[in-house]
Amino acid sequence: MSLRISIVGGSGYTAGEMLRLIINHPELEIGQVVSRSNAGQPMWRLHPHLRGHNLPSFVEIDSLKETDILILAQPHGIAQKKIAYYSEISPKIIDLSSDFRLNTLTNYKKWYGDAHLAPDWLPRFVYGLPEIYREEISDSQYVSGVGCNATASILALLPLIKHDLLITDRPIIAEIKTGSSEGGSKANPGSHHPVRSGSVRSYASVGHRHTAEIQQVLGVEDLHISLTAIEMVRGALATVHAFVNPNTNLKDLWKAYRSTYKNEPFVRIVRDSRGNYRRPEPKIISGSNFADVSFDLDPQTGRIVSICAIDNLMKGSVGTAMQCVNIMCGFEETTGLEFTGLHPI
Ligand SMILES: NC(=O)c1ccc[n+]([C@@H]2O[C@H](COP(=O)([O-])OP(=O)(O)OC[C@H]3O[C@@H](n4cnc5c(N)ncnc54)[C@H](OP(=O)(O)O)[C@@H]3O)[C@@H](O)[C@H]2O)c1
Repeated sequence: MSLRISIVGGSGYTAGEMLRLIINHPELEIGQVVSRSNAGQPMWRLHPHLRGHNLPSFVEIDSLKETDILILAQPHGIAQKKIAYYSEISPKIIDLSSDFRLNTLTNYKKWYGDAHLAPDWLPRFVYGLPEIYREEISDSQYVSGVGCNATASILALLPLIKHDLLITDRPIIAEIKTGSSEGGSKANPGSHHPVRSGSVRSYASVGHRHTAEIQQVLGVEDLHISLTAIEMVRGALATVHAFVNPNTNLKDLWKAYRSTYKNEPFVRIVRDSRGNYRRPEPKIISGSNFADVSFDLDPQTGRIVSICAIDNLMKGSVGTAMQCVNIMCGFEETTGLEFTGLHPI
């Protein structure tokens, strides 16, 4: 029998992407999809790619019934207000926002400014990145969705940290290029087409909140990120600059990246010497759950440039969340996530 999965925040981009994945998942069925702004409307009106799938209409929050899995797909600050209520409705919850990503109240206050409204719930959530927390996720009822920029940066850095290849007294800098869907479906003056189109806009050179997740997950302090919005709808590309220990060579790097990712179904090492696709590119993994990683080393200076491309809505959010659903429910981790991406696109 299929498990029922319901969503709150139904009209948003991550909800639409989650619905696409559920439709193609053999073990799951759509329960209810709550929308404050579109209750009673057919889902395809907001998510036109789902037309023809005979989906139920959006419902009000008060109509939400018990379900096997609940996905919270709302802006930051909302889930923590009602998490106790949601836990009565569903034994398994994945919150896609950043409400439950940080594991200390001090860190939460430092990065988000306010006191957390559900402090007892923070330790109950596991950070939902299977490449690091697979075992914890399988034992957990409550999983926090990942930050997209954080995911790209973490996956670029993980082999270097795991294999102790970095000089610890030099900073790590991640420069991240992002697509517009990262900002969600609500438009603002900065996202208006004549303003946004064709622009390359630095919007968080310092102080972006995803810094906290990366530092926490990788256990590194001296890590800094800088974000630039570019002409792209989906995708995030993290280019991470760091310095490796003296005498580290390309062979050591290959070994580190291969051993870190050899059993990971969604992380691919992309490092070719010929052709157009020598290094990761977000465009070719659009709609897929892949994270493509690569590296280059400047032997003169010891600077490593580690790169990771993802689709922000997939590996950067809902694709990874579906990996977590599969792990939490004991399904094959790749179920419903086999889509390869499109080429050309
Ligand atoms: N976009 C990404 O690439 C991405 C990546 C990683 C993580 N995330 C996180 O995932 C969450 C959802 O992102 P998204 O891109 O889907 O955002 P979105 O497109 O803006 O959708 C969020 C939905 O939440 C509901 N909502 C809005 N304001 C609300 C409020 N004050 N109270 C209750 N519900 C409200 C709305 O749905 P209804 O009107 O239908 O209720 C809205 O469509 C966010 O926390 C985001 O940070 C997003």
